[in-house]
Amino acid sequence: NPIKPWGGRFSEATDQFVERFTASVSFDQRLYHHDINGSLAHAAMLAKVGVLSPGELQQIKDGLEEIRSEIEAGEFNWSVSLEDVHMNIEARLTEKIGITGKKLHTGRSRNDQVATDIRLYLRDEIAVICGELQRLQEGLIDLARREANTIMPGFTHLQTAQPVTFGHHMLAWNEMLERDFGRLRDCRERLNVSPLGAAALAGTTYPIDRHYSADLLGFSGPTENSLDSVSDRDFAIEFSAAASLAMTHLSRFSEELVLWTSAQFNFIDLPDRFCTGSSIMPQKKNPDVPELIRGKVGRVNGHLISLLTLMKSQPLAYNKDNQEDKEPLFDVVDTLRDSLKAYADMMPAITVNEAVTREAALRGFSTATDLADYLVGKGLPFRDAHEVVGKSVAYGIEQSKDLSQMSLEELRQFSDTIEEDVFDVLTLEGSVAARDHYGGTAPSQVLAAADRAEARLAAR
Ligand code: ARG
Repeated sequence: NPIKPWGGRFSEATDQFVERFTASVSFDQRLYHHDINGSLAHAAMLAKVGVLSPGELQQIKDGLEEIRSEIEAGEFNWSVSLEDVHMNIEARLTEKIGITGKKLHTGRSRNDQVATDIRLYLRDEIAVICGELQRLQEGLIDLARREANTIMPGFTHLQTAQPVTFGHHMLAWNEMLERDFGRLRDCRERLNVSPLGAAALAGTTYPIDRHYSADLLGFSGPTENSLDSVSDRDFAIEFSAAASLAMTHLSRFSEELVLWTSAQFNFIDLPDRFCTGSSIMPQKKNPDVPELIRGKVGRVNGHLISLLTLMKSQPLAYNKDNQEDKEPLFDVVDTLRDSLKAYADMMPAITVNEAVTREAALRGFSTATDLADYLVGKGLPFRDAHEVVGKSVAYGIEQSKDLSQMSLEELRQFSDTIEEDVFDVLTLEGSVAARDHYGGTAPSQVLAAADRAEARLAAR
């Protein structure tokens, strides 16, 4: 058993179960890279203010880089009795470089150290996640352009409402992701401050330069208050909240993909490589990827609640409770990143069954509103027009005929203002083309919206 770095005042060894119960190294070793970077910045700062000599700084740098290589080569021996990633690395440094290794922790505590590590870690992960998000958005915008003219039924209450273009539907998804990106960007900006120098809670007696270590780590500056610095985990909660919402969006997309790939809808096909089969039913091709992502929202929402509950009622400043922040946060990061990756890979491979979506839009009287608008154009008040079209639909249901399949005589039973030009508005193409305004479903508007969406990506 290695001697505890904090063992001075203790007169008996830690209970073995307590040791395992309180250790975090099994999961916080994931922070090693950022822990080493934080230590390098702290050591450089100590050397700048004269607490470490240039020679000592060099030894620490070399030692920490060797440790990084050991960890990356899988040669590092993680020890549970050294509790966490921070003490494991520090103990190894001292093993390697001797007494200088023991100086690294001057003017620092694990409390400001871990708060720094998590911020650095999350900042990097947000960059990766935003990259996947961007790739998914590019795929959506491409698909929107490809299917700008493809007509499908638009739904409210999952009942056929009005015809829309498939591209317009894709750009609706893109808007959700655009807001997700904004939330992640905000979160990144707020988290990007350096707790280093807060030490345990009250700051330190050394002549430290907090701005310098913050600069070295690419933070926008040091945190304002030492007590808040070591206890704040708002950034983890904020990130998880943004992740919950992003996963909610992916779950909504997933629900639609699952419906659309069913035999009953058959709107789209997913390539085999994103699907799996059944061990008993030979005919099956299941949309596992979207289904799984729909299911994974549950764990992310759960982690958000875990983190909120973890923080409620915590008195200032650091409490061991905070060690419980890592597993939920890591799982939120992994789940969101992998779900976005799966979606970004899948999106360009989606093929649309245009004949089927068009046929579906022909059913369910999707152009009924267009007929009402037509009658308004002929001078009827909208409410009367609504009534006329309602009667036409009732007739259509009875006769099993869509509005566009009725003859002029049939339509004129309900209003003699109807003329031959009605058939221009009763077609699907006429219906979507007529919604020709900013944010509308007309193919030309979809193409313009796709250009704007692309320009926003480029301006990030
Ligand atoms: N493993 C700890 C954590 O995750 C590091 C900080 C421990 N600080 C302490 N005073 N026990 O939060």
